[in-house]
Amino acid sequence: MNRVRTGIKGFDELIEGGFPLGRSFLISGGTGTGKTIFATQYLVEGAKMNEPGVYLTLDERPELIREDMLCFGWNIREFEDNGLIKIVDGTIAKLGIPSDEEFSLPATGFDLDKLLLELMRAIKKIKAKRVVVDSIPALGLNFENEYDIRRAVLKMVYLLSRAGVTTIFTTEINEDSKQIGKYGVEEFVADGVIVLHYMGVGTQSNRTLHIRKMRATKHSEDLHPLQITSAGVTIHKVEEDYNV
Ligand SMILES: Nc1ncnc2c1ncn2[C@@H]1O[C@H](COP(=O)(O)OP(=O)(O)OP(=O)(O)O)[C@@H](O)[C@H]1O
Ligand SMILES: [Mg+2]
Repeated sequence: MNRVRTGIKGFDELIEGGFPLGRSFLISGGTGTGKTIFATQYLVEGAKMNEPGVYLTLDERPELIREDMLCFGWNIREFEDNGLIKIVDGTIAKLGIPSDEEFSLPATGFDLDKLLLELMRAIKKIKAKRVVVDSIPALGLNFENEYDIRRAVLKMVYLLSRAGVTTIFTTEINEDSKQIGKYGVEEFVADGVIVLHYMGVGTQSNRTLHIRKMRATKHSEDLHPLQITSAGVTIHKVEEDYNV
């Protein structure tokens, strides 16, 4: 099977070298667990390997993403200028303010089909191989009921799959429930589910990553320490002493 190397330090070796090509994966976890950093790093590492990627943001404004990611040494603007990353702004439309972004919605409000057209236009423009959709709950805010949210996610997944890209969706899991996602739709999306935890105690070992499912892959079942540093996310082996 063809694998897409994420380039995230310590991660690919846990999933037989990378994500199965052309599928969609979920990164789930509570707030501040590192979902956005993980997903951005996937695109940045792709860009460094000359694999273009598109970031559909529904949560944070593109300007803030560019600014935040600079502290990991990732100059998104430069990648955008070189056609290796494009950001699609799905955040601003509902506020009725026009966006300055190259790929965005009209100020008239949220429109799923227009958003999907912009996403596909960005993918075509740079021949993207990787896509990030951040996040499903933020997409869901644009809909009145869960039925419409499910339809929206399924439509997006279908189009992305047809485009042949390998996608990370970010979402939140209620850890107490048996559900995989918030809307009961994420399991259709997910050829793999990665759960990030934040324990909120201790020093360096308070974050973990757990591969809950990865189709067609013999994967680690451990809770791996996850570290966020000025170089981004690193995944450690359970027994590894990395606090030195
Ligand atoms: N330079 C850094 N060094 C260490 N940790 C950092 C650094 N920058 C950010 N962090 C940590 O990463 C967290 C933010 O990560 P991220 O934005 O990826 O979370 P998220 O899961 O996307 O959250 P949300 O659900 O709010 O979108 C911060 O709360 C902070 O704990
Ligand atoms: Mg986030």
